[in-house]
Amino acid sequence: MIFTLGGIKGGSGKSTIATNLTVWLSKQGFDVLLVDADEQQTATKFTKWREVNTDGNSGYTATVLTGDAVRQQVAKFKPKFDHIVIDSGGRDTMSQRAALFVSDALLVPFNPRSFDLWTIADVETLVKEVRALKPTDLHAFALLNRADPKGTDNKDSAELLQESSVIEYVGPPIVSRKSFANASSNGLGVIENQPADQKAIHEITMVFKIIMEKLGAEINV
Ligand SMILES: Nc1ncnc2c1ncn2[C@@H]1O[C@H](COP(=O)(O)OP(=O)(O)O)[C@@H](O)[C@H]1O
Ligand SMILES: [Mg+2]
Repeated sequence: MIFTLGGIKGGSGKSTIATNLTVWLSKQGFDVLLVDADEQQTATKFTKWREVNTDGNSGYTATVLTGDAVRQQVAKFKPKFDHIVIDSGGRDTMSQRAALFVSDALLVPFNPRSFDLWTIADVETLVKEVRALKPTDLHAFALLNRADPKGTDNKDSAELLQESSVIEYVGPPIVSRKSFANASSNGLGVIENQPADQKAIHEITMVFKIIMEKLGAEINV
């Protein structure tokens, strides 16, 4: 499968989800390529820390691509890997469109109660435009990330996302937890971080499992 973490808003958690998805898939024995298609290079920095903290045994391959090279090179990498995860920037860029053109699935994290939710319509337009040009399916999934630990805002935001006929909402909400930032700063996925944050692990792996199931992709957990 080829996944793109996208959307048109920065800071929603694209790089966090992209790196955690890459780690989660690679821990299952899949051969995974992480493509950094964002000029901020968060995924690349993550991998650098990971290489240091794992003595070079990061468990996946990482590369940097921009613009139309994303489409061309990812198409060539496709038969060589089990899964490819593309971390794109927070804008509707040439790189993101190129990524979507070769992707099976777009994952869009939204933060509840934020300006993020105002971008739903723009993300829908982007998805519709890509679908109109793309010969194969593009599944689009919305997730709630950096969600509130309690209160009704998550439910309200999820209901808003569920109204979309273009993007499919997948829960549970991934709550804002320090363990995500702590893990990322060490180049670790939240599933590897110690002490283990079981709630964070449960939320993110549930979202990944549901997405894999909806895509008809096999998992080994
Ligand atoms: N679920 C979460 N809980 C706590 N912090 C988070 C969570 N998701 C992301 N963050 C933090 O939010 C910031 C932005 O996340 P990032 O993944 O870099 O967003 P993007 O790639 O969309 O710009 C980072 O500091 C990251 O550690
Ligand atoms: Mg990012």
